[in-house]
Amino acid sequence: MLSKALVAASLIASSAFRPIEAVPTVSAVGSKFFMSNGTQFFIKGIAYQKTPDDPLIDTKQCQRDVALMKTLAANTIRVYHVDPSGDHTGCMSAFADAGIYLLLDLDTFNTVIDPIVASWNQTQYSAYTKVMDAFVTFNNTLGFFVGNEVIAMNNQSLAAPYIKAAARDLKAYRDAKGYRKIPVGYSAADIAELRPALQNYLACGTNSSESIDMFGLNAYEWCEASNNFQTSGYSTLNSYAQIYNVPIFFSETGCRTSPPRLFQDQSAILGPQMNQYWSGAIIYEWIEEANGYGLISYGPNKSATVTASDILGGYSVAGTPTPMSPDFSNLQAQWKTLNPTGVASSDYKPTMTPPPCPASTAGGWLVDGNVALPSLGQTQQTGTATAATATSTGTAANPSSTKAGASGGKEITGMSVGLVAVMLGFMYWL
Ligand SMILES: *[C@@H]1O[C@H](CO)[C@@H](O)[C@H](O)[C@H]1NC(C)=O
Ligand SMILES: *[C@@H]1O[C@H](CO)[C@@H](O)[C@H](O)[C@H]1NC(C)=O
Ligand SMILES: *[C@@H]1O[C@H](CO)[C@@H](O)[C@H](O)[C@H]1NC(C)=O
Ligand SMILES: *[C@@H]1O[C@H](CO)[C@@H](O)[C@H](O)[C@H]1NC(C)=O
Ligand SMILES: *[C@@H]1O[C@H](CO)[C@@H](O)[C@H](O)[C@H]1NC(C)=O
Ligand SMILES: *[C@@H]1O[C@H](CO)[C@@H](O)[C@H](O)[C@H]1NC(C)=O
Repeated sequence: MLSKALVAASLIASSAFRPIEAVPTVSAVGSKFFMSNGTQFFIKGIAYQKTPDDPLIDTKQCQRDVALMKTLAANTIRVYHVDPSGDHTGCMSAFADAGIYLLLDLDTFNTVIDPIVASWNQTQYSAYTKVMDAFVTFNNTLGFFVGNEVIAMNNQSLAAPYIKAAARDLKAYRDAKGYRKIPVGYSAADIAELRPALQNYLACGTNSSESIDMFGLNAYEWCEASNNFQTSGYSTLNSYAQIYNVPIFFSETGCRTSPPRLFQDQSAILGPQMNQYWSGAIIYEWIEEANGYGLISYGPNKSATVTASDILGGYSVAGTPTPMSPDFSNLQAQWKTLNPTGVASSDYKPTMTPPPCPASTAGGWLVDGNVALPSLGQTQQTGTATAATATSTGTAANPSSTKAGASGGKEITGMSVGLVAVMLGFMYWL
């Protein structure tokens, strides 16, 4: 027979492991995100990828990561690729129990839209819809991206209508299936010549069925300790965001051209100058890879210096997460003080209309106005076949801008330009 004290103790113990309550869903209203209880939602996110695997399959690993991620007060992860046939229930509930939401790229490992020979076809559509099917049931799914940095160079803007066509078809699919209206958006490389034309184009037009529900910018502009709101260029980004009619946020940030990282941009993004226009930021990234952007590493297998075996995929992608010092605690210190409240949904009456569709300009944005979107199955030569290895514009610091271009769409997410050079050096040396 159990004593009262024992029963009480076991109740306390079990409540610690039981989800306290269902996580409120988040939706896009006007230019903001709101939780279903009416509180505005600001992203404090971490990019979570296990190149090249699905990071949401291994429940035990997710639980280990969640426990540490909670100490950062993160409320969102961003995942680049999943295998829709896998079982994600364990990981998704581990994140839900911690109040952590998911932003997910719908393209699978081999279905990204190619910026050189752009296509939006049945193979891609069915791969994207399978991913959507696999994740709509989770209340902590926050949003879907139809692409990440599809346009990686300043001369690839002709691929933009294909991105918009993908958003159109995924939104139509979502609505036809009667799914929750989970926002469908795009995550863009930050390319100076295409600012703000790309973000405006994707949201423009009077037919909201054909435009994105949210826009993410991968920006690596605030790189030095001496940077501030003006010198980083964030004041310019902020001016473009003021007219934006759907939520806009940093879908990657965390420049590390001069480590350690201080994450000072977080106080701007989540502070009063920007939080009236922006919905937060995602830090690139959780797991340490050869590019050095990790906030944690798994045990002793990852050495501080890049080795040949690291480069060939030998770095550890599972284990007990250990904070990378001092970046982890630097981010923790930033986020601790930043808790914007925004407005209550009951006090928010969105009035903004979509931005005008930009006209083409010589040597810049190449799509002229609100062109008819491609239909499913359409393909177009949108660039020359010279595969570019990295953007020469925007920021050289961007670690996820490296694409294999026309060579089959294989994406080397999260590998810096410098590292590719190191890798080539190693290959030569091997
Ligand atoms: C998701 O939210 C709905 C509506 O609030 C609720 O009925 C359901 O139980 C929730 N699901 C989970 C797994 O918590
Ligand atoms: C809504 O839920 C969030 C997360 O649980 C909580 O922080 C917030 O205070 C809630 N808002 C209201 C109005 O209850
Ligand atoms: C669809 O597009 C993808 C990505 O560009 C391409 O690899 C694939 O061959 C295309 N499939 C068809 C059937 O055209
Ligand atoms: C809006 O776009 C959708 C998707 O392309 C289309 O089915 C619908 O007819 C359009 N509505 C109007 C009023 O043009
Ligand atoms: C570290 O490497 C050893 C030897 O290759 C391996 O047995 C072990 O599982 C690795 N540990 C982790 C956490 O991956
Ligand atoms: C785009 O720029 C790259 C690098 O400058 C170049 O190799 C490529 O040919 C250009 N493509 C077009 C369509 O001009």
